[in-house]
Amino acid sequence: AMDSGVARLRIENWEQYEQDLLARVGMGRKIMNRITARAKAAPQRIIFAEADNLKILKAAQIVKDDGIGHPILLGNVQVIRRLIRENNLELDGCPVIDPLHEEERCAEYGQLLYEKRKRKGITLHDAKKKMRDRNYFGAMMLDLDLGDAMISGLTKEYAKTIRPALRVIGVAEGVKRVAGMYLIDTKRGVYFFADTTVNVNPTAEELVDIIGLTAKTVKYFDIEPRIALLSYANFGAGRGEEPEKMMKAAHLAKAKYPEMLIDGEMQANIALNVDLLKENYPFSELAEKGGANTLIFPTLSAGNIAYKLLQELGGAEVVGPVLMGMRKPVHILQLGSSVREIVNMVCLAAVEAQKMKE
Ligand code: ACO
Repeated sequence: AMDSGVARLRIENWEQYEQDLLARVGMGRKIMNRITARAKAAPQRIIFAEADNLKILKAAQIVKDDGIGHPILLGNVQVIRRLIRENNLELDGCPVIDPLHEEERCAEYGQLLYEKRKRKGITLHDAKKKMRDRNYFGAMMLDLDLGDAMISGLTKEYAKTIRPALRVIGVAEGVKRVAGMYLIDTKRGVYFFADTTVNVNPTAEELVDIIGLTAKTVKYFDIEPRIALLSYANFGAGRGEEPEKMMKAAHLAKAKYPEMLIDGEMQANIALNVDLLKENYPFSELAEKGGANTLIFPTLSAGNIAYKLLQELGGAEVVGPVLMGMRKPVHILQLGSSVREIVNMVCLAAVEAQKMKE
């Protein structure tokens, strides 16, 4: 007879199952409340690189009013002032800077960018010109400690916004590639997905680095990562480049991080369904430890599509994209982030900035 996954799911103690389910509801909110409280404990200066946008200004208002941080607004001054006025916002005291009108600072910052990248094909003239772009200007402010964290994106393509940050700020010590993660708050609890935003087709070795960054970030939320490497096949059953890549990555990652709970390659439902795991793959440590809470995807397409489906169809609330591995806190919002999502990212960035200063 056909044996569907649902038919095989046996729940021995329904009462316990329902209690567990209830306990997990709203966990994402609780986690973010904790992060927000930490941010408020030592407010940081937040550079909003694309501030001539109503959602950003509304987020900045909350950041200011709630004592989360001190906004610094970059963008067209007239537009920013008009949006503030028309929407009855009150952002007095927050610096408003338009790089297009900051010739001296552009020259100074351009010189610094030139020093950093003169052997990477940039001319002094181009470096100065680049500073008229708010993302370069903001990144340089961050580099010079004229702010503690930068939030950008929302209006432009992700790739266009991350490049200036990569060129000016760069990666943290020991990090080869930055990567993006999302916290996904579902009705079954909180999950972490990576890489959802940066590396288009990471190699097995790059996936190992992504796993390292992701594990560190998950711990940041006071959660112990239980990591599954996903593919369309389970434990060697499938032929093809991606399952093999994920198998290799699992192998390498286990060797590199022996203390971590990592397994794969496996399908998403296997990773998330303890009963299926126990019944079919009892040898996996994840079977005993409650299944995975951290999912590593084989390609950017897979990760990006997965989280967006959950957000749109699954009704999940998401926190992200969390850019991992930068030398200083920089996060690039996705097109269409809500005000609440922006504030969440500010809180995260602020806590990161606090930690980096410690
Ligand atoms: N980690 C660390 N450094 C990197 C990375 C990385 N992942 N990628 C590039 N760099 C470095 C480059 O090596 C280069 O350094 P160097 O000039 O000092 O040698 C510097 O950053 C600038 O690199 P570029 O050559 O301009 O960058 P590249 O063309 O490799 O592009 C990018 C990098 C923009 C991240 C690219 O990989 C990309 O487009 N990724 C997909 C982004 C995207 O579209 N995401 C999906 C949507 S996001 C969302 O949904 C929220």
